[in-house]
Amino acid sequence: MMRTFYATCLILLSAATLSGCNPQAQGFALPPGDAEQGKETFVDLGCNACHSVKGQIARVEGGDLDVHVVLGGEVTRVKTYGDLVTSIINPSHKLSRGGPGIVAEDGTSNMPNYNDIMTVQQMIDLTAMLQASYSVIPPRYTHHYFP
Ligand code: HEC
Repeated sequence: MMRTFYATCLILLSAATLSGCNPQAQGFALPPGDAEQGKETFVDLGCNACHSVKGQIARVEGGDLDVHVVLGGEVTRVKTYGDLVTSIINPSHKLSRGGPGIVAEDGTSNMPNYNDIMTVQQMIDLTAMLQASYSVIPPRYTHHYFP
């Protein structure tokens, strides 16, 4: 009985690992977005009150929160559109490392919820624009030399 249980767990675990560790992201495919339109949407929805996009969009001065989270630029791990869509429609799912104004007192993200006002097309275009603004660089390893 117990053995069957362990065997089942093992099978499920390997299935999860083989499918890229995230079975929920399987079969998720957005239609192609328009990155140029995404830039406009970013400004229209006021994302630039708290964000700049490296080399593309500046953050507007002022705003209620003193938040500046830079999007785009060099990262050591590729940002899939699954990551980006999740950050936009479910910002509290995975929080950045913090800092003033980033995480609210109740532990949720200080990023507003756009789900009632953002169209799916806007989300697709935003994601296309953001994804193109990241470039992946190899991680910098710290070498330890032991005598
Ligand atoms: C009031 C400020 C504010 C506004 C407006 C805002 N955000 Fe954010 N956003 C944040 C904060 C704070 C974080 C970091 C904390 C977190 O991960 O939730 C964040 C995180 C993100 C991340 C994840 C960044 C990373 O490196 O993990 C993305 C992508 C993002 N926002 C996109 C957007 C988009 C697109 C809009 C407009 C539709 C927007 N944000 C509007 C405050 C804001």
